[in-house]
Formats: sequence, structure tokens, C-alpha cells
Amino acid sequence: MFVCPGEGVRVAIDSMPGVCNLSVDLLVEECREAAALGVPGVILFGIPPHKDPTGSGGYDEQGIVQAAIRALKRELPQLMVIADTCLCEYTDHGHCGLVEDGDVHNDKSLALLSRAAVSQAQAGADIVAPSDMMDGRVGAIRAALDQAGLERVPILSYAAKYSSAFYGPFRDAAQSAPQFGDRKTYQMDPANHREAMREIRADIDEGADMIMVKPALPYLDVLWNAKQEFGLPTAAYQVSGEYAMLQAATANGWLDAERAVLESLTCIKRAGADFILTYYALQAARLLG
Ligand code: PBG
Repeated sequence: MFVCPGEGVRVAIDSMPGVCNLSVDLLVEECREAAALGVPGVILFGIPPHKDPTGSGGYDEQGIVQAAIRALKRELPQLMVIADTCLCEYTDHGHCGLVEDGDVHNDKSLALLSRAAVSQAQAGADIVAPSDMMDGRVGAIRAALDQAGLERVPILSYAAKYSSAFYGPFRDAAQSAPQFGDRKTYQMDPANHREAMREIRADIDEGADMIMVKPALPYLDVLWNAKQEFGLPTAAYQVSGEYAMLQAATANGWLDAERAVLESLTCIKRAGADFILTYYALQAARLLG
């Protein structure tokens, strides 16, 4: 879910029909509905009022996601709240880390990502989920959380995150498209399977409690292998482009919405997902209910 500043704000996202940027008050109402339908948790992405070179909105204690987490934990304490930990929604250049000399500086990004994770956990996030793909971030975040007395907050690592065209609609929603270059230096090459296994192993060694494969449907082989190989709680993220494709086809009557949505989720589960992050969560819960 995408949370934005203001009150009573609901902004439709053109490339993700049915998904909106919501201000905190409306987010709480939508989450109330999700919880009532049996959705166990939500993951939050923040759209800050201002973006800057260091993405300070991402680690601001009064930031938009931190405010949303506090509101949700107050109003719906039983709903699990996952905080996406990244800088790209908060930086004016749109990259997931700090930029220096025209390139993303991996190691200098770690301190900011750690600050973001600690601020999210302090606001009450049940799980932090780093999606930036900088090397070493799981270890850095784990150390920072422990040092802040947050050793019970687990890390869901976007461990195998590919550099994918299927994130396009998300970047519309978060206005987070990189303003120069691309994410290929930190996200993975879609053609490479073994690298995914190395990335996952590295994250586990650094302290990841749960791992994720992303996108989902085009990467079921990676998902299957990850679950077989590591046996950790494994998530799959059915991303914005997967959602957009299904929405476009079903809106045109080219696919049967109910069957296509449930089939795609069933197949992600079959391939080894213990849990699925999907923009269809409410709809699927309604269909399954
Ligand atoms: C932040 C982040 C992205 C997504 C999840 N976390 C965007 C990106 O990496 O460009 C994409 C999710 C989606 O497409 O639904 N780094």
C-alpha cells in the first residue's frame, strides 16, 4: 500500500487500476477492511512531501511511513505491518542509495538504510524489508536494529530482486523512476539464476530471517529453487507490472478475472511461496472467503 501526505487523500494510479495513494486516515480504513477479510499483513511504501538527494524522508522519525505505521499499530494492533526499507521513494534522483560522482555509492548507502530501518521499527513496524539491493545491507541493518534494542524485529530480505521492466507501474505510483541510468548495477540480471542463489545465501549469512523472490510469476524457477535450497520462510512478490497486465486483460474481458487472479496466486504458492505480496490481497481474500 502506498501512503501519501494529507487527509482524505485518495489518488488513483493510472497504470495500476484499483490501487491508490492513500493518506494515513484512508489507509487505516482500507487496512481495517483488509484485516476484516483475513489479510494477515500489509507492506507500506511512502510518498513523502519532499524528495532530496539523501532521501531523508525515509529515515525521518516524523516521516510519512513512520506516521502510517504508528497509526496502524494504534488502530489495528493485530494487523502485521511490514515496512519496505529503501531510499528510492525519497530521493530526488530516484535511486535506491546515495549517489556520488554520478553513481550509486553502495557502502555509504548502508548507514542511511540502517537509519530508515531503525526509524520504521521504532515506529512499530513488525518486520523491516530492505528492497534496495545494496550489498551488505542486511548485516548493517541487523547490527543497527540490535544496537537500538530492536533485536526482536525480523528482516524480510528482498534477496533475489531482479532488474525488471515489471516495476514500471510502481515507479509511477511512487514517482521513483531513476532520473538517470538504471538499477542494473544493484538489481539482478533476469537471465541469471545462480546469482540469485548467491545473493540469497549472502543475505541469510548476514541475518535475514525471511527471503523474497521478486517478481513472482516470471521467476517461479528461482522461487522453487530458493525454497528447496534454503528452506527459510520464503515470500514471492507479485509486482505492479504483473498486476497491471492482469488488470488490463481482465478489464478488456480477455481473461476471466476471478480465475486468472486465483490461478496466478495458486501457482506462485505451488512454486514454494510461504506468503505472497500482492496488490490483489483484498480481492483474493474476498474470492477465497
Ligand atoms: C523499492 C521498491 C520497488 C518495488 C518494491 N520496492 C521499485 C523498484 O525497485 O524500482 C517494486 C514493486 C512493484 O513493482 O510492485 N526499491
